[in-house]
Amino acid sequence: MFAAASAHPNIAFIKYWGNRDSLLRLPLTGSLSMNLDGLETRTRVWFDADFSADSFSLGGVEQGEESLARVSAFLDRARELAGCGLWARVESENNFPTGAGIASSASAFAALALAASAALGLSLSEQQLSALARRGSGSACRSVPDGFAEWLPGSADADSYAVQVAPPDYWDLVDLIVVLRSEHKAVGSTEGHALAGTSPLNGLRVAGAPERLIECRQALLARDFARLARVVEADSHWMHAVMRTSTPPLFYWTAGTETVLWHVLDWRKRGRAVCATVDAGPNVHVITAGAEKTWVEARLRELPGVQQVLCARPGPGARLI
Ligand code: DP6
Repeated sequence: MFAAASAHPNIAFIKYWGNRDSLLRLPLTGSLSMNLDGLETRTRVWFDADFSADSFSLGGVEQGEESLARVSAFLDRARELAGCGLWARVESENNFPTGAGIASSASAFAALALAASAALGLSLSEQQLSALARRGSGSACRSVPDGFAEWLPGSADADSYAVQVAPPDYWDLVDLIVVLRSEHKAVGSTEGHALAGTSPLNGLRVAGAPERLIECRQALLARDFARLARVVEADSHWMHAVMRTSTPPLFYWTAGTETVLWHVLDWRKRGRAVCATVDAGPNVHVITAGAEKTWVEARLRELPGVQQVLCARPGPGARLI
């Protein structure tokens, strides 16, 4: 029983931070993202009666303990759905640079959800597949549909999944991923989500999220960059405000992050279609209109501390290969 699948990471315009149910990964708020074409995880899965345990390799390196346990727990969910008790072999590769700090759990679990469910003979709808991917990593549910996706928080396991808001070719946006040097080892998202509730600002962030989500969806559908820019930056700042005021506090930005954010704001004030958003790390995702890409990319490369700038356009969802 074998299948292979690919999926892309995504960048959230409206963020997922904090869960109502951390075991099921039912989020506190809805979120909205763009799949990143060009960056990809490819995953092969075998289920076989000859295996005596699950095993998992990433980029040709056998994974132990923590990452194997997370993959194995996810496979248990897929096996439960299929009523199958066989162990599995999982082999995965990312085509994006390792150590660049790009979150790979979204593409990883979207690709694994599709490959594992296909290998087990499950024929899941896109919504069921998205809900399954969510169990591995919340943001993975948004990497299942093509293009721009909204995660509907839902009320339970079955109705918490992502749906397409617009196809990839709807708007020629570009994500210029500014990779900065990071001296600190970041606290992972899973650990971070659990701290959201300790911030006195969390309730305010959660209360304002539905309005920001509607604003973002409308700006996207109207292809209104100025509107999109305001809400994308505001939502990222709200999430980092919660992170910084958690106990213990989480500081993901470095001096380089601040410099990039300051310049992006300055360029926008001067009329450029550009805005920025930051996930659980120091790197900055600079979102710009296709026509501005060359100018913005050249300016970003001149900034201090910038190691590399990766370029991604709106991408497809998870695919069998
Ligand atoms: C800051 O989906 O990586 O990137 O469900 O624990 O795997 P887990 O968390 P994850 O969290 C993503 C957090 C974020 C914002 C976002 O992508 O919405």
